[in-house]
Amino acid sequence: MQERSIYLDHHSTTPLDPRVLDAMMPYLTERFGNSASRTHAFGWEAEEGVEKARAQVASLIGANAKDIVWTSGATESDNLAIKGALQFYRDRGRHIVTVATEHKAVLDSCKAFARDGLADVTVLRPRPDGILDLAAVEAAITDKTVMVSVMHANNEIGVLQPLGELGALCRSKGVLLHSDAAQSAGKIAIDVEAMQVDLLSMSSHKMYGPKGVGALYVRSKNPRVRLTPQIDGGGHERGLRSGTLNVAGVVGMGAACVIAKVEMAAEGSRLLALRERLRARLFAELDQLRVNGDLDRRLPGSLNVSFACVEGESLMMGLRELAVSSGSACSSATLEPSYVLRAIGVGEELAHSSIRFGIGRFNSEEEIDYAGGRVIAEVRRLRALSPFYKSAAAVPAGEVRR
Ligand SMILES: Cc1ncc(COP(=O)(O)O)c(C=O)c1O
Repeated sequence: MQERSIYLDHHSTTPLDPRVLDAMMPYLTERFGNSASRTHAFGWEAEEGVEKARAQVASLIGANAKDIVWTSGATESDNLAIKGALQFYRDRGRHIVTVATEHKAVLDSCKAFARDGLADVTVLRPRPDGILDLAAVEAAITDKTVMVSVMHANNEIGVLQPLGELGALCRSKGVLLHSDAAQSAGKIAIDVEAMQVDLLSMSSHKMYGPKGVGALYVRSKNPRVRLTPQIDGGGHERGLRSGTLNVAGVVGMGAACVIAKVEMAAEGSRLLALRERLRARLFAELDQLRVNGDLDRRLPGSLNVSFACVEGESLMMGLRELAVSSGSACSSATLEPSYVLRAIGVGEELAHSSIRFGIGRFNSEEEIDYAGGRVIAEVRRLRALSPFYKSAAAVPAGEVRR
């Protein structure tokens, strides 16, 4: 049979939508100006592209265009939001509340400041379904808390945190709410006003735009959020992020946001149907599976499944024609179980034998069926070799589903 490669790793990155490339092309060729050049038409033309894109990004999240700051991606946006706020508000306090399942860009930004004695960090554990308990957030907030940082959608298990409720809580306590929306922006509706979010990180390459560009929403009123810049220089982006802009990149991100906004509802339904098709088939044909994270409150195209009694590395090796992610992460030459899965109580073994399926815009039903068939065949093959299979002891009671 012909070797196939099916891309089901859309949490990691997404392909560039050809319509986004079309929007970018002029800015990679004849419209090459520096958007900060104020003295000639080349600069004005580039600036026009940048400002149009700023409005397009803002429109996706219900923000004012002037509250969008361009960055190189969500990693930089997270760093600027967290370090920038902790530095600016250091006289108010240095306490930050976050969650164990956040992306490393958030956790390590907090850790770096804690290590230097610039922050006190409370890291909350989510419930076993991956969702954060609002009461735990409320209990963690003190009069020294500057910020709560909670992601919208998780990059490994896809669960959605209750941003609106968190926003209302943080506002009532007078603390800032930052949310890493790298995975949700463009896929789930976001309204920074209704949700009362003060800072929001986004990444273009997670929504069919180019890599190396992102944005940080920084609320300018009710309340006005101030940040200490982390990159100094020519004073671009209202002094918050110096550096010549990647004009074609930001134009691409703007175009990606327009497409996402228009197509979000239809695309969400299609991806949900594909995901449920895959899940139903896996559960119909295999036993001792576990879905990681709440099934209803999640990104439509996201599914993370643990396969008991299967050796994780062998499973990934056997599925090389599928581009999926495992529940293991490479760290200094060893395979560590995913800290996200561990934080929601998945055992080490089971974490290793987990697969994250990320279904996206260009996947077809045929691809999903092929992928499902391959996973089922491979799990069956490995279980036939496993001395543990049939004992049914590898999945804790209550978590075994057929
Ligand atoms: C939740 C989350 N935050 C931040 C990032 C980092 O984004 P970027 O690649 O744009 O720096 C990612 C990407 O993996 C992510 O999934």
